Amino acid sequence: MPKLTFLPENKTVEFESGTIPYGDHGKPESILDIAMHFNVHLEHACGGSCACTTCHVIVVEGDKNLSEADDDELDRLDMAAGLTLRSRLGCQAVVRGDVAIEIPSWNRNYISEGGVSTLGPRPSLSPDPSHLP
Ligand code: FES
Repeated sequence: MPKLTFLPENKTVEFESGTIPYGDHGKPESILDIAMHFNVHLEHACGGSCACTTCHVIVVEGDKNLSEADDDELDRLDMAAGLTLRSRLGCQAVVRGDVAIEIPSWNRNYISEGGVSTLGPRPSLSPDPSHLP
């Protein structure tokens, strides 16, 4: 059974190929599809249609256990911030064996999805009503 490890959380999930109900977020059994199934937060502004770069991940181990990047993914990746030779789009890379990936810090935008910030509460931008006339 393939294992997928998400860094820096160091959370590893294991699944049997063909058993995850496809969640319509990226390619079936893509990194994003598996992350969503196991409640691991990975940004996906375009819903997994290869139209943004918010699901950008860095492959730490097991790149041979991922599907090959097609031209659409490679073209989109060219626009990704912090592109590396080990970069992939989480919605396009299908997991076929053990893989470890890192979610880059610039892609860890927990707040936009209503998640919990590890940096403390978000400051309020609205004025303090006690100062209003
Ligand atoms: S979620 Fe937009 S390209 Fe992957």
